[in-house]
Amino acid sequence: MTSRYRVEYSLKSHRRDEFIEWIKALLAVPFVLHSDVENFFHGSSFGDVQDYEEFMKSKEFEISKECQKRYYEVFEDVESLITNTIELGNRSQANGPVPRLRKLVPSVGTFFTPLPLPRAFLAEDRRRGISRRRFVSPSFNDIRNVLNTAQIMALADIYKDDTIKHLKLITFDGDVTLYDDGKSLMKDDPVVARLIELLHAGFFIGVVTAAGYPGQQGSSQYYSRLKGLVDAMNESTLSIQQRQNLLVMGGESNYLFRYSHELQTFRFIDGEDWFLPLMLNWNKDHIEYMMENIHRHMINIRKKFSLDDESKTSIVRKERSIGIIPVNGFKILREHLEEISLSCSGKLTELLLELASDIKVCAFNGGSDVWVDIGDKALGVESLQSYLCRDEWLDVCPILKSETLHVGDQFASLGANDFKARLSACTAWIASPQETVDILDDLLAYLKS
Ligand code: IMP
Ligand code: MG
Repeated sequence: MTSRYRVEYSLKSHRRDEFIEWIKALLAVPFVLHSDVENFFHGSSFGDVQDYEEFMKSKEFEISKECQKRYYEVFEDVESLITNTIELGNRSQANGPVPRLRKLVPSVGTFFTPLPLPRAFLAEDRRRGISRRRFVSPSFNDIRNVLNTAQIMALADIYKDDTIKHLKLITFDGDVTLYDDGKSLMKDDPVVARLIELLHAGFFIGVVTAAGYPGQQGSSQYYSRLKGLVDAMNESTLSIQQRQNLLVMGGESNYLFRYSHELQTFRFIDGEDWFLPLMLNWNKDHIEYMMENIHRHMINIRKKFSLDDESKTSIVRKERSIGIIPVNGFKILREHLEEISLSCSGKLTELLLELASDIKVCAFNGGSDVWVDIGDKALGVESLQSYLCRDEWLDVCPILKSETLHVGDQFASLGANDFKARLSACTAWIASPQETVDILDDLLAYLKS
């Protein structure tokens, strides 16, 4: 049965972020009620064009000020709701009160820090002219940017305020976040200098990517994706310790590498040294069974959309992941990519239920391909937090979720793989490598100010 709910859900929900949509709806009210230029024309007469322009300038200013005040108030109220959610322990506790924000937006994630939204709004309003707009209401991207800026401001405030509990680990997705989709990092890419500066400042930097290349051979694959950064590090004045603070978590949460000063590139670290207990307990036969079933599912779905032509697509099966990729410059339709990733997600849920298994899995639309991976970025980030603190006596330990930032481009609730990192870290949702650079510039500036 295709119910209305199902149609709505399939068409929209997986692409939306309910929290952002909810804030957008709140801001639409003051936009509709206070941004109306026409009302200021009414009943006025103008001597000449000059007067009219002067009048408009001053009225424009008044309208903008009014809109800015009203938007600011909305962000103040949302900030209070977030603070209240944190105070009540984020998730509703067994017999405790459900935070009001969770009642209003049931799917809202966990907040690891308060968010100074009004201050962030003013900063973004200066850049984006949100309150100066008369025809375009505050958009999804405006709000996404306000949330990012608020998160960066909060982490910088805590960093400056407290010497122990502060930002320690910054993780980045690869494709679209550090480099363009399918490309590699070059030495003169602007993000490289920022990453080096963060390493200089003593932060741990992790690249948490779905791209999965196992074993020491994997090291050369990650080197070629991150060549620009590794080469720049080798020529930099970074200390040995600072260099070793660069790690790569590949295949979501499957393969760990750490920069090695001796090798001047990445060293593969065996799973036994860092797998979380949960991951060590996964039943290997269950993993194999799931891979086998997803493989069959992909073969069928590839046929269904007439993609089963070797000149168009192929199925790549690795030890812990499986994907449909385009070949010979073929482009898989966006609708097919979404359909395949959502259908694989559904199949995974079925398989997990059938096996009564707690194995973590992830199916996502990578923009030009679709992948199913065993593991997810929540585990990838958490594994880094725990691996870096396996020597618990280190004064940076433990590394908490509130002390970790993950920057990525895939935060839609389904068919996206950075979304899961929200369970293990504060996050910033970017839409291009340039936005990553902008966010890092903000972070470095706020840390210094
Ligand atoms: P990310 O954006 O850094 O997480 O990388 C996602 C992209 O990595 C996918 O869209 C694929 O093109 C590529 N990739 C290569 N190998 C794998 C794999 O084993 N699993 C998932 N993605 C992979
Ligand atoms: Mg990405």
